[in-house]
Amino acid sequence: MSEDKKGYLASGNQKKVTTHRLLEMKQQGEKISMLTAYDYSMASVIDQAGVDVILVGDSASNVMVGNTTTLPMTVDQMIYHGKSVMNAVKRAMVVVDMPFGSYQGNPYEAVTNAVKMMKETQADCLKLEGGKEVLESIRAILNAGIPVMGHLGLMPQSINKYGTYAVRAKEEEEAGKLMEDARLLQEVGCCAVVLEKIPAALAAKVSSELNIPMIGIGAGPYVDGQVLVMHDMLGLNKGFSPRFLRRYANLFDEVTSAVQQYITDVKSSEFPSVEESY
Ligand code: KIV
Repeated sequence: MSEDKKGYLASGNQKKVTTHRLLEMKQQGEKISMLTAYDYSMASVIDQAGVDVILVGDSASNVMVGNTTTLPMTVDQMIYHGKSVMNAVKRAMVVVDMPFGSYQGNPYEAVTNAVKMMKETQADCLKLEGGKEVLESIRAILNAGIPVMGHLGLMPQSINKYGTYAVRAKEEEEAGKLMEDARLLQEVGCCAVVLEKIPAALAAKVSSELNIPMIGIGAGPYVDGQVLVMHDMLGLNKGFSPRFLRRYANLFDEVTSAVQQYITDVKSSEFPSVEESY
C-alpha cells in the first residue's frame, strides 16, 4: 500500500487494517465491523465511513447479478469485482471470496486460482468456505504467502447439499464438527473465520476458545465482529428478511421516490431549469 493510499479518514483512524490488526482487535476486545462491496463507488463510501473489513463476497451473484445461488460466480468475475473495490479502498482490509469450484478440486488448482486472484486484484486476503474437507487447499494457499479467512456454519456454496438456508449446527454432532473445523482453521494459519447462521451459544463458545477472530452473520452477539451484505443492510432488497438482518436504511423506497420525482420532472419539463442549462 503506497503512502498516498493512507491517511484520508476524517475520523482520525487512518491506519490500514491488516491481518495483524484483526488479531490485535480480538485481543483488545474491539469488535470488527465488516460489510460487503462489489464496486468502486460503494467501496469508496464504506471505506471512508471507516468500516474495518470489506468483503468482496460471492453474494455478488445474488445482489449484483440476480442469480438464486452463489454457485455461478467465476474466478474472472470475482477478479472484476475485487479490482473495482481495490481501486477505491485505502484503509479497510479487503477480502475476496474464492468462488465455487476454484479450490475444492485439489490444492494445486486452489493455489493457482488464489495466486491469479491476488495478482489481478491486489486484495489483502481470500476467503474460502469449509473446514477439514478443504484444509489442504487452504494450507497450500497459506504456504504461498496469501492470507486466508475461513467460513463455517451455513456455507452458501454447499446449498445444494443442505437443500435449505436454515440455521446450521443446531445438533450436537454438527456443532462438534464446526468446533473441530474452527480449530483446524486456526492451527493451519487462517487469520479469521466467518461464522454464518449458527446458534449464538455455539458461536460464543467457538469465539471464546479460539485466539483468531470469529466474525458472525446470524451468529449472535458473542463473537469478535459482525458482517452483513451491504445491499441487505441498506434496505435495497425488500424480499429478504431473515431474523439476523437489521436494516440501517430503506434505500428501496428512497430510490423509488427519487426516480419517480425525476420522471415527473422530465415529463412536466420541470427539469432541467434555466440554471441547469448552458
Ligand atoms: O458472500 C458473502 O457475502 C458472504 C457473507 C454472507 C459473509 O460470504
